[in-house]
Amino acid sequence: MGEATPQPLFNTKKFHWTDAKSKSVTRPEDPYKYLAGFGNEHQSEFIPGALPIGQNSPQLCPYELYAEQITGTSFAATRATSMRNFLYRRRPACVHGKFTKIDDNPSVEASFLNPSLEVHNVPSQLSWSAFKIPDKAGGAVDFTMGIHTLGGSGQPNIREGLAYHIFAINSGMPNKAFVNIDGDFLVVAQEGHLDITTEFGHIYLQPSEICVIQQGVRFKVDLVEQHSPKGARGYIIETWGTKWELPELGPLGGYGLANARDFLFPTADIDTCSTGGWSIISKQGGKYYSTSQNHTPFDVVAWHGNYIPYKYDLTKFVYHNTVSVDHTDPCINTVLTAKSRDIHAPLCDFLIFGPRWDVAEQTFRPPYFHRNCASEFLARIYGPDKVGGRSEVFAPGGASYEASFTPHGNADERTVGAMYADMKAMRVGENQLTFMLESCRSLLFTAWALKDSGHLVAEDIPESIWDTLPDRFGKNEEAMALLKAMGRA
Ligand SMILES: [Fe+2]
Repeated sequence: MGEATPQPLFNTKKFHWTDAKSKSVTRPEDPYKYLAGFGNEHQSEFIPGALPIGQNSPQLCPYELYAEQITGTSFAATRATSMRNFLYRRRPACVHGKFTKIDDNPSVEASFLNPSLEVHNVPSQLSWSAFKIPDKAGGAVDFTMGIHTLGGSGQPNIREGLAYHIFAINSGMPNKAFVNIDGDFLVVAQEGHLDITTEFGHIYLQPSEICVIQQGVRFKVDLVEQHSPKGARGYIIETWGTKWELPELGPLGGYGLANARDFLFPTADIDTCSTGGWSIISKQGGKYYSTSQNHTPFDVVAWHGNYIPYKYDLTKFVYHNTVSVDHTDPCINTVLTAKSRDIHAPLCDFLIFGPRWDVAEQTFRPPYFHRNCASEFLARIYGPDKVGGRSEVFAPGGASYEASFTPHGNADERTVGAMYADMKAMRVGENQLTFMLESCRSLLFTAWALKDSGHLVAEDIPESIWDTLPDRFGKNEEAMALLKAMGRA
């Protein structure tokens, strides 16, 4: 088989998912079946009758399967927050050998507590060019070793905080599973297509789709070669001690932003094909451990519950914004939010900016200049290399960051031009998709992010970029006359 040619992305030229006129909830490449609905109780069985009816733990389960529960929250959590499931599987997950310490992935970090010599404050802004996908000639790099931590805040052992990672891989995980004991992974696909196997079934993930794999759930990540000739790249937001939720809709009413029905959950699918031994890689406190077993960890025949990995296609996001005046705060673009212990400030909001209409009148439409208490992390999934002038290097597959209270805005010709533009309704963000992470934490960054990756462009945006903003007040005759009359000119 010759080298595969990547297919055009389904969505990059689409204004919205609905342009595809698709009768399927997934894209053409996705071979899997899903259940729909964020926050629902779901259930699935691969063969009829495998799921017990009316009870969770029969004396003898159908087909002599074992019943096993995973609790994602404490037993006595409120009904609204309780997350748990029951799996019915060929062998319980405990059937494996002893965990032994193995070599760490040296670029994974999980401690962001000061004082730490491993992580560093950043006073203002950072930007990175597109992170390199490792060359296959240099050896196989799978998902466990292709993770690189950029920064974070807190520590998983105290269930407080988060970490931002990128992943860049050129290999799947044959007979190898991964489990993150530290927290949940929100995975953002950016380059290449991923075939993710979980204990609950399969998730197909391609650029502009995201998925969440919860703490303690075993999974493996393989490449769909046809669509990943160079490998795959993306981002991971790891959260500790909190779960992703849909944001409140408030006055928007019952629908809008990311609608619950568009979140897709896998269906049960037992692995009957693999042979030989398996290794399970566990990440705990950022350290890696390994155990082995002589059977597949993906032997679940049926399951039910609400602690289940899921995915969402970002092109289904329903944008809202002003239809009169003023630029709406960016939180209007929140897809998912992870609460912190401070009920007034999210640990992390996951926001997106894609194609939409901009119609405000008598208004400066680009983002206003601002200094936010939230830190901001931006990355482009697809689209042009340079947008907005905030950073000269902002290519898809790279990233940028602003620490809390860093003054910024747009510094390109749009800024001044927008003040004098003839205001017509216009489409913005055509053929591009960017996500942003807003966090109440100012992050600490790893040596890999600041040096070893080789992709840090500049610790500070060049000062000259802001010189494009002229002092027009000083040339305004009316203003100067008034100042002069006040004896202040
Ligand atoms: Fe900003």
